Amino acid sequence: MVVTGNTIHDSIPNRIIIPKTTEQSTWLIFAPKSDSVGSLAACLNFFAKHEIYLLHIESRSSTRVASKYEFAVECAPGGNLKEAINSLRDSTTYLNVISRDYENQLGTLPWFPRKIRDLDLFANQILSYGSELNSDHPGFTDTKYRARRKYFADLAFHYKYGQPLPKVDYTDEEKKTWGIVFKELVKLYPTHACKEFNHVFPLLIQNCGYREDNIPQLEDVSNFLKDSSGFTIRPVAGLLASRDFLAGLAFRVFHSTQYIRHCSKPLYTPEPDVCHELLGHIPLLADPEFADFSQQIGLASLGAPDEYIVKLATCYWFTVEFGLCRQNGQVKAYGAGLLSSYGELEYCLSDRPELRPFEPAQTGEQSYPITEYQPVYYVAESFEDAKNKILEFSQTIPRDFTVKYNPYCQSIDLLTSKSQVEGLVKQITNEVQLLQDTLKKL
Ligand SMILES: [Fe+2]
Repeated sequence: MVVTGNTIHDSIPNRIIIPKTTEQSTWLIFAPKSDSVGSLAACLNFFAKHEIYLLHIESRSSTRVASKYEFAVECAPGGNLKEAINSLRDSTTYLNVISRDYENQLGTLPWFPRKIRDLDLFANQILSYGSELNSDHPGFTDTKYRARRKYFADLAFHYKYGQPLPKVDYTDEEKKTWGIVFKELVKLYPTHACKEFNHVFPLLIQNCGYREDNIPQLEDVSNFLKDSSGFTIRPVAGLLASRDFLAGLAFRVFHSTQYIRHCSKPLYTPEPDVCHELLGHIPLLADPEFADFSQQIGLASLGAPDEYIVKLATCYWFTVEFGLCRQNGQVKAYGAGLLSSYGELEYCLSDRPELRPFEPAQTGEQSYPITEYQPVYYVAESFEDAKNKILEFSQTIPRDFTVKYNPYCQSIDLLTSKSQVEGLVKQITNEVQLLQDTLKKL
């Protein structure tokens, strides 16, 4: 086997390491179908045929298939990489493209994270840093508040995957602001929130310190979510692009702020804050069905063209943020923007707004205001129904591959070859056997 050049990865056993790409190069990792002499040469011929120079070639034991080899190659810019990849797919058992510049190289496929650790790569590519406030922000002229916001932004900025979430000593003033919001909202939850929310909320009080005089810590909440639905939290230093935020959901990761709104207006915030995240988002993310629905939006976004990211982000807005659902003949709120706003929670269930059924193709086209109450809300029949609709919608997204979340490795598998599909069929067959065995015992 060929081993050339410097190692491309840290020597951590049993873990696939993402190579460091240069600005324009694209890394491919693949395993030839056969291990016979000349199999690598046959694969490399595709690069020569499509005029692609290789900057680096390395062989290593496969991290996926025991006693097999895989190759990592770094392709220089130029040549027809798309065609080379297409040709290579038929000769390989798997093929991964790893580069943040994949879009530029191929002109078709935007980069997306493949491992949960990849979320570190865009975590700080934020549209605005959390401490930059607009002139109409309630805390704009408060230098103490601005310094505090910078503190929170810096905490998130230095966070890396795998680290414990930053613990924060909230000030008495911050706890007072939280307490005002908490006290008002808990009055409405029994009558206005969906049943899943009302099931989880007491558990958060019991397990995560949800109290009027205490702002829960993200670490405690993330651990609770992990046990309930497999979701975890990452702190975020500012506003992420929709594509990046949605990509986090594909890994069952929710990017959360940790600062709190300005004390002068406790029942108003122009941007998401810890009240919005902890009271609005967290309870529903602990529900496995809702978690699946959220993850489906994320999976649908991976590698999707920009216009579909807009549609998916709009569906996210009208569901995860401002969704209503029908339960026992009544309309209830499950969107975080509603469950964290006393005023809009009352308004959304009044006879003033217009209600429409949630249909991703139509909902994804709807425009919406971001600084006032929504004139239109979309009603889901159930989280399962909403998930199935997103699944159906994702099939209309032009992508020449399908994605599957691998919960064991917390990674995204691209299903691009027949052998991968055969592997999946084997897995499903095993699951069916397990079901049949269980049925016999019941
Ligand atoms: Fe939100």
